[in-house]
Amino acid sequence: MIRYLTAGESHGPNLTGIVEGLPAGLKLTAEDISLHLARRQEGYGRGGRMAWEKDLVTFSSGLRFGKTMGSPISMSLANRAWAKDKANWPVTMSLKEVEGQDDVEKITLPRPGHADLVGVQKFRFDDIRPVIERSSARETAMRVACTAAARVFLKELGVEIGGHVVQLGENGYGSWEELREAADKHYVKDGAENLFRKADESEVRCLDEKLTEGMVEEIKRRRKEGSSLGGIYEIIVTGLPPGLGSYVHWDRKIDGLLAQALISTQAMKGVQIGLGFEAGHRDGRNVHDAITKDSAAPGGLGRETNRAGGIEGGMTTGQPLLIQGVMKPIPTMLDPLGTVDIVTGEATSTRYERSDVCALPRAVVVAECVIAPVLANAILEKTGGDSMDEIKERFIKLFEPIV
Ligand SMILES: Cc1cc2nc3c(=O)[nH]c(=O)nc-3n(C[C@H](O)[C@H](O)[C@H](O)COP(=O)(O)O)c2cc1C
Repeated sequence: MIRYLTAGESHGPNLTGIVEGLPAGLKLTAEDISLHLARRQEGYGRGGRMAWEKDLVTFSSGLRFGKTMGSPISMSLANRAWAKDKANWPVTMSLKEVEGQDDVEKITLPRPGHADLVGVQKFRFDDIRPVIERSSARETAMRVACTAAARVFLKELGVEIGGHVVQLGENGYGSWEELREAADKHYVKDGAENLFRKADESEVRCLDEKLTEGMVEEIKRRRKEGSSLGGIYEIIVTGLPPGLGSYVHWDRKIDGLLAQALISTQAMKGVQIGLGFEAGHRDGRNVHDAITKDSAAPGGLGRETNRAGGIEGGMTTGQPLLIQGVMKPIPTMLDPLGTVDIVTGEATSTRYERSDVCALPRAVVVAECVIAPVLANAILEKTGGDSMDEIKERFIKLFEPIV
């Protein structure tokens, strides 16, 4: 089974990742990973940091001649800030005792909406710096790198993932049906990667041009007001067979596992599968998906609709997975919020640091990637196998008709 660990601070020398459990014989290149790292860095509403933070992954184990060997893959990403600002970060974030460390300015004003306050309460720090360094979304760069490797495994089996923004501030699709029309009709039939490629053409990763304009305008407006924005994204996965996950125990249900992967990402506050919360507003006939005979569908049976979002009873149905997540607005804002100095106890306002106004278009890429190991593991649980060849052979059988 695939598992991964990340390490590293935002302004330390580098981020490190280890991915274990990928089978042998999978072609994997730094470019496969860099594609999604680059996508994670693009999107309207970014702050300044992205200008100097170009992520390129370096492998140091687990591959031979461009293919996996079944052994742990380790990789690193340099933090440009460290190299660029030699006078500052190598002292501020020195790994060992260093001359001048006592002169490094402490951060004592916790920002509401961040891990700052509870982080210092938990670890008993008198400086918020160590909390910021690990809790910030810079960590998602290595999380994307590790999980993009699982995404390459899925792609090799024909499983594709794509994501797009469906709501940003006041701009969004009028109904579930309108959203399905926009996303499914053109971009899902031939694989969900078409969806992300189309969405990537928009500055805010939205499929609809008019909505894109409204979203960009709203980001501009909120920036002027000194505020920030979040929103809702949708992730679609195609090429999955029926029966991944299980109904037999809570911790085997694939909807629960997917939700955990998504909501553990910084700033994510909710996840819904298929119709999600909308199901609470409708009667049963307008929620459930009638079963049809369809020789082209996985397992030989299709659905009239896909309001369940490709999951029933904690298992994939073979229909595309449709998952939405909500991201809260960025907590760092030009117009400050009230806070209390953790050393002096003085009531004051937050200090502004360079920050995104809206990171939703970038968070879509993180969401696409973090679900990949969950799906890869559900497949490996079904197929077993240590090499790509044996897994592929067994994977195809999962689509065979039952009637
Ligand atoms: C891709 C991405 C980029 C982010 N960029 C910023 C940022 O520039 N400034 C900021 O204050 N928060 C940013 N955040 C949000 C914080 O990381 C998040 O609010 C913080 O970790 C606390 O969230 P939590 O309460 O869900 O853990 C970003 C989040 C993501 C996923």
